[in-house]
Amino acid sequence: MAETQDLRATRIPLTDGAGQMPALGFGTLIPDPAETITATRNALEAGFRHFDCAERYGNEREVGKALQEGCAAGGIAREDIFVTTKVWNTNHRPERVEPAFEASLERLGVTCLDLYLIHTPFAFQAGDNPDPRDKDGNVLYDDGVTLFDTWKAMETLVDHGKCRAIGLSDVTLEILKDIYGSARIKPAVVQVESHPYLPETELLEFCKETGIVLLAFAPLGHGMKPGLLEDPVITGIAARMGKTPAQVLLAWAIQRGTAVLTTPRSAARAKENFDISRLPQEALDEINRIETRQRLNPVVNTGVPGFIAQAKSTAQGK
Ligand SMILES: NC(=O)c1ccc[n+]([C@@H]2O[C@H](COP(=O)([O-])OP(=O)(O)OC[C@H]3O[C@@H](n4cnc5c(N)ncnc54)[C@H](OP(=O)(O)O)[C@@H]3O)[C@@H](O)[C@H]2O)c1
Repeated sequence: MAETQDLRATRIPLTDGAGQMPALGFGTLIPDPAETITATRNALEAGFRHFDCAERYGNEREVGKALQEGCAAGGIAREDIFVTTKVWNTNHRPERVEPAFEASLERLGVTCLDLYLIHTPFAFQAGDNPDPRDKDGNVLYDDGVTLFDTWKAMETLVDHGKCRAIGLSDVTLEILKDIYGSARIKPAVVQVESHPYLPETELLEFCKETGIVLLAFAPLGHGMKPGLLEDPVITGIAARMGKTPAQVLLAWAIQRGTAVLTTPRSAARAKENFDISRLPQEALDEINRIETRQRLNPVVNTGVPGFIAQAKSTAQGK
């Protein structure tokens, strides 16, 4: 038991020898550019080595700058960090995938990626506007391209040695099974909302059977209050174990075999969220018995991320 109390260095192997993903990841969905830089530096200094980005977050350049400066200052090599980014909905047409990928590489200041994800399974009208809408405010979807068409373009990036692994995000189990069944290069990772109120148990079982890593976002319920951080089961375990609620939630996620993304912004929270150690089985069981069910992100149904600041103020969380 004692040998694996510390969960900070947990690494999860990816399929087909595509390397290992540090289980604890730092998410870069931070709207403010200056805050993106300080939070990313704080995360690197706290010990995070897995960074989750997206072209849609609009801050890859700031993340890249923070990583380059932070790695240089800390003597950290590129091979020591795991960098992911995502192709946005407006770039699903196969001929747009590689240019979108290359543009992300340039902004991040890297020559290859550890993981490239399709951000959502919904294709939007291709073009430079990331949020194309008609005059009534309805999203303009693109029914001229299938998810599998986009997947094949993603496979080509792996063939060309430009990224080590590819995956999906915001998909249902049905969509994942569909792509898994047809893919030449199987998805290595699926990034979805998951926490004790949305454990995604069936999806996790399928991932374990097939060797896909489930990468959970919103492990702290996006920090929304009331919410997971104030759940009496979580706060009770935290008090008993001398941990914070955030540490309990992150440990639960890792111990059930998922990787996890969290976005602490201050240096103190970066240290807190990285300082994760094992919970006893009875605490895990107690969390698994929570019956509240809540999905925070409607993105799986629409492709519209409620968590990104929108022109129309329907945003959830931040
Ligand atoms: N694929 C997708 O569609 C998708 C969707 C959403 C997110 N993501 C990814 O997932 C990442 C994680 O985002 P998330 O919102 O899910 O992160 P999260 O860590 O679950 O929630 C972040 C929120 O929790 C608060 N928080 C962080 N650490 C805390 C602590 N120790 N105690 C109390 N509150 C704490 C933060 O507050 P402060 O800001 O005040 O520190 C912030 O409001 C994103 O950055 C992004 O990379 C992906």
